Amino acid sequence: MIDSGLRDRAGRHVTLRPVGDGNWRAVADIAPRDDQRGWVPALAARYLVLTMRSDVWTSLAVVADETVVGHVMWGVDDDGSRWIGGMVIDAAEQDRGVGRAAVRTLADWLSAQDGGSVVRLSYHPENVPAARLYTSLGFTPTGAMEDDELVAERTPPS
Ligand SMILES: CC(C)(COP(=O)(O)OP(=O)(O)OC[C@H]1O[C@@H](n2cnc3c(N)ncnc32)[C@H](O)[C@@H]1OP(=O)(O)O)[C@@H](O)C(=O)NCCC(=O)NCCS
Repeated sequence: MIDSGLRDRAGRHVTLRPVGDGNWRAVADIAPRDDQRGWVPALAARYLVLTMRSDVWTSLAVVADETVVGHVMWGVDDDGSRWIGGMVIDAAEQDRGVGRAAVRTLADWLSAQDGGSVVRLSYHPENVPAARLYTSLGFTPTGAMEDDELVAERTPPS
Protein backbone atom coordinates (compact mmCIF):
# COMPACT_ATOMS: atom_id res chain seq x y z
CA MET A 1 0.00 0.00 0.00
CA ILE A 2 1.20 3.53 -0.76
CA ASP A 3 0.03 5.89 1.93
CA SER A 4 1.04 9.52 2.37
CA GLY A 5 -1.64 10.11 4.99
CA LEU A 6 -3.61 12.39 2.64
CA ARG A 7 -7.37 12.83 2.84
CA ASP A 8 -10.10 13.97 0.45
CA ARG A 9 -12.36 16.92 1.24
CA ALA A 10 -14.77 14.64 3.16
CA GLY A 11 -11.91 13.48 5.39
CA ARG A 12 -11.58 10.03 3.83
CA HIS A 13 -8.09 8.55 3.95
CA VAL A 14 -6.81 8.12 0.38
CA THR A 15 -4.41 5.23 -0.29
CA LEU A 16 -3.10 3.41 -3.36
CA ARG A 17 -3.32 -0.37 -3.17
CA PRO A 18 -2.26 -3.29 -5.36
CA VAL A 19 -4.94 -4.73 -7.62
CA GLY A 20 -5.69 -8.27 -6.50
CA ASP A 21 -8.33 -10.88 -5.75
CA GLY A 22 -10.34 -8.69 -3.39
CA ASN A 23 -10.65 -5.53 -5.50
CA TRP A 24 -10.04 -6.15 -9.21
CA ARG A 25 -13.73 -6.15 -10.12
CA ALA A 26 -14.31 -2.80 -8.42
CA VAL A 27 -11.24 -1.34 -10.16
CA ALA A 28 -12.32 -2.72 -13.55
CA ASP A 29 -15.74 -1.03 -13.14
CA ILE A 30 -14.29 2.47 -12.54
CA ALA A 31 -15.81 4.73 -15.21
CA PRO A 32 -15.28 8.40 -16.11
CA ARG A 33 -18.13 10.74 -16.97
CA ASP A 34 -19.48 10.26 -20.51
CA ASP A 35 -18.07 13.64 -21.60
CA GLN A 36 -14.57 12.56 -20.45
CA ARG A 37 -14.41 9.51 -22.71
CA GLY A 38 -12.39 11.46 -25.25
CA TRP A 39 -9.51 11.52 -22.76
CA VAL A 40 -9.70 8.07 -21.21
CA PRO A 41 -11.34 4.71 -21.97
CA ALA A 42 -14.93 4.04 -20.91
CA LEU A 43 -13.82 1.65 -18.17
CA ALA A 44 -10.62 1.20 -16.16
CA ALA A 45 -10.81 -2.45 -17.24
CA ARG A 46 -8.90 -1.38 -20.36
CA TYR A 47 -5.97 -0.26 -18.18
CA LEU A 48 -6.03 -3.54 -16.26
CA VAL A 49 -5.70 -5.45 -19.54
CA LEU A 50 -2.85 -3.14 -20.58
CA THR A 51 -0.94 -3.73 -17.34
CA MET A 52 -1.47 -7.50 -17.62
CA ARG A 53 -0.07 -7.43 -21.16
CA SER A 54 2.83 -5.07 -20.42
CA ASP A 55 6.12 -5.35 -18.54
CA VAL A 56 6.15 -1.59 -18.03
CA TRP A 57 2.97 -0.59 -16.23
CA THR A 58 1.63 -1.48 -12.79
CA SER A 59 -2.01 -0.70 -11.95
CA LEU A 60 -3.10 0.51 -8.53
CA ALA A 61 -6.51 0.92 -6.94
CA VAL A 62 -7.29 4.39 -5.59
CA VAL A 63 -9.09 3.77 -2.30
CA ALA A 64 -10.92 6.27 -0.07
CA ASP A 65 -11.24 4.71 3.40
CA GLU A 66 -12.25 1.21 2.20
CA THR A 67 -14.05 2.19 -1.05
CA VAL A 68 -12.40 1.74 -4.46
CA VAL A 69 -12.87 5.11 -6.18
CA GLY A 70 -10.32 5.12 -8.99
CA HIS A 71 -7.45 3.65 -10.96
CA VAL A 72 -3.92 4.87 -11.58
CA MET A 73 -0.80 3.18 -12.93
CA TRP A 74 2.93 3.79 -12.89
CA GLY A 75 5.94 2.67 -14.89
CA VAL A 76 9.67 3.20 -15.38
CA ASP A 77 11.03 4.44 -18.72
CA ASP A 78 14.36 3.37 -20.27
CA ASP A 79 15.95 6.63 -19.05
CA GLY A 80 14.93 5.90 -15.46
CA SER A 81 12.15 8.48 -15.39
CA ARG A 82 8.97 7.39 -13.63
CA TRP A 83 5.61 7.74 -15.40
CA ILE A 84 2.08 8.13 -14.10
CA GLY A 85 -0.77 7.02 -16.38
CA GLY A 86 -4.32 5.73 -16.38
CA MET A 87 -5.59 8.27 -13.86
CA VAL A 88 -9.36 7.94 -13.59
CA ILE A 89 -11.60 8.78 -10.67
CA ASP A 90 -15.07 7.26 -10.93
CA ALA A 91 -17.66 9.78 -12.16
CA ALA A 92 -19.60 9.63 -8.89
CA GLU A 93 -16.46 10.32 -6.85
CA GLN A 94 -15.02 13.29 -8.75
CA ASP A 95 -14.59 16.81 -7.36
CA ARG A 96 -14.09 15.53 -3.82
CA GLY A 97 -10.32 15.91 -3.63
CA VAL A 98 -9.53 12.25 -4.33
CA GLY A 99 -7.66 12.87 -7.60
CA ARG A 100 -5.41 15.46 -5.98
CA ALA A 101 -4.60 13.16 -3.05
CA ALA A 102 -3.94 10.20 -5.38
CA VAL A 103 -1.60 12.04 -7.77
CA ARG A 104 0.29 13.66 -4.88
CA THR A 105 0.72 10.31 -3.16
CA LEU A 106 1.98 8.52 -6.26
CA ALA A 107 4.18 11.39 -7.52
CA ASP A 108 5.88 11.76 -4.12
CA TRP A 109 6.44 7.99 -3.86
CA LEU A 110 7.90 7.80 -7.38
CA SER A 111 10.08 10.89 -6.95
CA ALA A 112 11.74 9.38 -3.90
CA GLN A 113 12.88 6.30 -5.85
CA ASP A 114 16.52 5.82 -6.87
CA GLY A 115 17.58 8.80 -4.74
CA GLY A 116 15.38 11.21 -6.72
CA SER A 117 13.56 10.55 -9.97
CA VAL A 118 11.91 12.72 -12.59
CA VAL A 119 8.18 11.97 -12.75
CA ARG A 120 6.38 12.39 -16.08
CA LEU A 121 2.80 12.13 -17.28
CA SER A 122 0.80 13.26 -20.28
CA TYR A 123 -2.59 14.80 -20.86
CA HIS A 124 -4.65 16.11 -23.75
CA PRO A 125 -4.23 19.89 -24.07
CA GLU A 126 -8.01 20.35 -23.89
CA ASN A 127 -8.36 18.33 -20.69
CA VAL A 128 -8.62 21.37 -18.43
CA PRO A 129 -9.30 19.58 -15.10
CA ALA A 130 -6.28 17.33 -15.61
CA ALA A 131 -4.06 20.24 -16.71
CA ARG A 132 -5.06 22.29 -13.64
CA LEU A 133 -4.54 19.40 -11.27
CA TYR A 134 -1.10 18.48 -12.61
CA THR A 135 0.09 22.10 -12.88
CA SER A 136 -0.95 22.79 -9.30
CA LEU A 137 1.13 19.81 -8.19
CA GLY A 138 4.28 21.14 -9.89
CA PHE A 139 4.18 19.40 -13.28
CA THR A 140 5.34 21.58 -16.17
CA PRO A 141 5.06 20.81 -19.91
CA THR A 142 8.38 19.69 -21.43
CA GLY A 143 7.41 20.67 -24.99
CA ALA A 144 7.32 16.99 -26.02
CA MET A 145 4.14 15.27 -27.21
CA GLU A 146 3.14 11.65 -26.69
CA ASP A 147 0.57 10.82 -29.38
CA ASP A 148 -1.78 13.82 -29.10
CA GLU A 149 -0.94 14.54 -25.45
CA LEU A 150 1.36 17.08 -23.81
CA VAL A 151 4.17 15.55 -21.75
CA ALA A 152 4.73 17.24 -18.38
CA GLU A 153 7.31 16.50 -15.73
CA ARG A 154 8.22 17.22 -12.15
CA THR A 155 11.87 17.13 -11.16
CA PRO A 156 12.78 15.91 -7.68
CA PRO A 157 13.63 18.58 -5.09
CA SER A 158 17.41 19.22 -5.11
C1 LIG B 1 -8.80 14.69 -13.66
C2 LIG B 1 -9.39 13.90 -12.51
C3 LIG B 1 -8.49 12.70 -12.24
C4 LIG B 1 -9.40 14.79 -11.25
O1 LIG B 1 -9.87 14.00 -10.16
P1 LIG B 1 -10.87 14.62 -9.06
O2 LIG B 1 -10.90 13.69 -7.91
O3 LIG B 1 -12.15 14.97 -9.69
O4 LIG B 1 -10.08 15.97 -8.69
P2 LIG B 1 -10.04 16.75 -7.31
O5 LIG B 1 -11.42 16.87 -6.73
O6 LIG B 1 -8.98 16.17 -6.45
O7 LIG B 1 -9.60 18.18 -7.82
C5 LIG B 1 -8.21 18.42 -8.06
C6 LIG B 1 -8.03 19.57 -8.99
O8 LIG B 1 -8.42 19.19 -10.30
C7 LIG B 1 -8.91 20.32 -10.99
N1 LIG B 1 -10.29 20.05 -11.34
C8 LIG B 1 -11.06 19.02 -10.93
N2 LIG B 1 -12.26 19.08 -11.54
C9 LIG B 1 -12.24 20.17 -12.32
C10 LIG B 1 -13.17 20.78 -13.21
N3 LIG B 1 -14.40 20.26 -13.42
N4 LIG B 1 -12.81 21.89 -13.88
C11 LIG B 1 -11.57 22.43 -13.69
N5 LIG B 1 -10.65 21.91 -12.86
C12 LIG B 1 -10.98 20.81 -12.18
C13 LIG B 1 -8.79 21.50 -10.06
O9 LIG B 1 -7.53 22.10 -10.26
C14 LIG B 1 -8.83 20.82 -8.70
O10 LIG B 1 -8.20 21.63 -7.76
P3 LIG B 1 -8.77 21.90 -6.27
O11 LIG B 1 -8.23 20.76 -5.45
O12 LIG B 1 -8.17 23.21 -5.91
O13 LIG B 1 -10.27 21.89 -6.38
C15 LIG B 1 -10.87 13.45 -12.78
O14 LIG B 1 -11.60 14.57 -13.21
C16 LIG B 1 -11.00 12.35 -13.81
O15 LIG B 1 -10.93 11.15 -13.49
N6 LIG B 1 -11.23 12.74 -15.08
C17 LIG B 1 -11.45 11.78 -16.16
C18 LIG B 1 -10.18 11.04 -16.54
C19 LIG B 1 -9.05 11.97 -16.89
O16 LIG B 1 -9.21 12.94 -17.63
N7 LIG B 1 -7.88 11.62 -16.36
C20 LIG B 1 -6.67 12.35 -16.62
C21 LIG B 1 -6.03 11.78 -17.84
S1 LIG B 1 -4.46 12.59 -18.14
